[in-house]
Amino acid sequence: MDEAIIQAAAHLKTAQKVAVLTGAGVSKESGVPTFRDAMEGLWAKFDPQELATPMAFKKNPKLVWDWYQYRRDLVKRAAPNPGHFALAHLAKRFPVFTLITQNVDDLHEQAGSTDVVHLHGNLAQTKCFFDCQGYPTLVDLTTIQIDPDNTPPPCPHCGRWLRPNVVWFHEILPQHELNLAATACETADVILVIGTSGLVEPAASLPKLGKLKGAKLIEVNPDYSMLTRHADVKLEGASGVLLPQLVEALDV
Ligand code: APR
Repeated sequence: MDEAIIQAAAHLKTAQKVAVLTGAGVSKESGVPTFRDAMEGLWAKFDPQELATPMAFKKNPKLVWDWYQYRRDLVKRAAPNPGHFALAHLAKRFPVFTLITQNVDDLHEQAGSTDVVHLHGNLAQTKCFFDCQGYPTLVDLTTIQIDPDNTPPPCPHCGRWLRPNVVWFHEILPQHELNLAATACETADVILVIGTSGLVEPAASLPKLGKLKGAKLIEVNPDYSMLTRHADVKLEGASGVLLPQLVEALDV
């Protein structure tokens, strides 16, 4: 067995409280492209970072809505991979286990994880751009007739735009979720950081916060990330391959 896996398992074997932060990389083997992967086909010419902002939506709501519909369709076709299942399995081993994700898909839940802390919202949900009935004004899209030539559809309450319930650049994260995530990281014995570039704040600071409070940091990523230099153990490779190996190592 790989030395890094053995080291990571040793940290986990003595841990009572575990926090996990996942990013787009954990869903990559499910066929969901990461945020910073090059897009294909029709969308290749757009920079996701320039579409995922309130300013972009105000400037061209149809473009941004349609791009999110494309992402929704990709996610709808995706199924959890062995990395998602390994995390759901891991949760059962520890008295306290908090799974925090920056992902807006529901693949962790589909794999059996519960109480997932979604820092960046939920792609399947839709809300009023103006939160006209209070934050957040969620709307059930299945009750609405959508004209594909005339998107975004109007909010049933105020008649203005609907948008996906995700956190865009320049927007603040949901406070409750951020508090849960910060507390979990600050009190964790071990933090697993999986499939994130560590480029986006405040999520990227959470593992560093935990590390300052004494947590051991284990990173799973095939590449270098902004969090790599803070890691006590680096598992270099795909999470769909390495997380099942980690679970197996814990059972030895
Ligand atoms: N297993 C694990 N990690 C992987 C894999 C894999 N199979 N494939 C790629 N990765 C890693 C990449 O090396 C990269 O470090 O996943 C990371 C993906 O990085 P990003 O695309 O930047 O995704 P993420 O860190 O989740 O982005 C954070 O930024 O765009 C916003 O709101 C969006 O939630 C997103 C946030």
